[in-house]
Amino acid sequence: MKRSFMQLKHIVLALALICVVSACNGNGELKSTQEPIMSANSSLQSDSGGGLAPVGDKIKIGFSMDTLLEERWLKDKDLFKAAVEALGAEVIIMAANGDDAKQISQAETLIGQGIDILVVVPHNAEATAVIVKKAHSVGIKVVAYDRLIKNADIDLYVSFDNEKVGELQAEAITKLVPRGKYVYIGGADTDNNAHLFKKGVFNIIQPMIDKGDIRVVYDQWAKDWTPVNALANMKAALSANDNRVDAVIAANDATAGGVIQALTAQGLAGKIPVAGQDAELAAAQRIVEGTQTMTVYKPIKALAEKAAELAVKLAKGENAGTDRKVNNGKIEVPSVLLLPIAVDKFNIDETIIADGFHSREDVYKNVEK
Ligand code: BGC
Repeated sequence: MKRSFMQLKHIVLALALICVVSACNGNGELKSTQEPIMSANSSLQSDSGGGLAPVGDKIKIGFSMDTLLEERWLKDKDLFKAAVEALGAEVIIMAANGDDAKQISQAETLIGQGIDILVVVPHNAEATAVIVKKAHSVGIKVVAYDRLIKNADIDLYVSFDNEKVGELQAEAITKLVPRGKYVYIGGADTDNNAHLFKKGVFNIIQPMIDKGDIRVVYDQWAKDWTPVNALANMKAALSANDNRVDAVIAANDATAGGVIQALTAQGLAGKIPVAGQDAELAAAQRIVEGTQTMTVYKPIKALAEKAAELAVKLAKGENAGTDRKVNNGKIEVPSVLLLPIAVDKFNIDETIIADGFHSREDVYKNVEK
């Protein structure tokens, strides 16, 4: 019978304990000192009284993150850590800052550190499939956090309804601009979410394109989600259309920031509706200042808590209890998709401010004394 990883962990820990109690070394010989024994799958650490306390029952989660260079992921990191610790588990976090090879080697390091389960925010939806294979080869389950890992046997996917994000953006902008020239600035082509966001936008605007009301005059991905690439894209969109653009949908707030920089340079900021996503502080400020029309707020605390709760369940060998599936090109992945919320200047107080995502003081910093 195949033993679960947790069972193996307990066996190794038990052996380690026997060794400490009988003060033996690896050859079964008696030793004069008792040293903490560390193995890949177990550890002994000092308890508050200074003695040795077994921690083998504490679930250890590896959190492999794409990047910590963006505001949103810093929140995810802190909220996920807090959620894991509130469940009595522990987490080791590594971030690759956009480097695929680094993310893979960091995941290997985490696997080697005796984790019970691996949670991954993939930089590259396809390249990270190899991480899943490696983890599974030693009996460790993998959870895709916020972004799907494609063509891999992942055990769980916890995210938001990302197609809905795009739909909310397009609904808000088409209400203001039912006819005209649209620019779409997408996210990173390598991120499955970028494709879902775009799909959501086109779910709404395609019928209007077919009617001849909307024309998409520019449509490009912003490599690696960077504002500087979005800025270059928006400059190109404006110059190709002699600045005659009526609306812009950007895949997130960082790229919306690049777009608004390009509009500002042409004296157009605040005159052309712009949508973003993430409810970043800078975007919330632009909304109340009038240069960005809307953002999509995704309550990250709820995501972090759900992912932590289900990761711990899976690590214990329990069922995650999901009720929907998402196809990742290989399997139907058990999934949880949380609901995103559209935010504009009219509901900003009752959404992101009421939730404590940002303080009122910070959001209105530049418009109120
Ligand atoms: C996330 C967005 C984020 C983007 C860039 C996407 O996968 O869902 O919230 O803005 O990555 O980091």
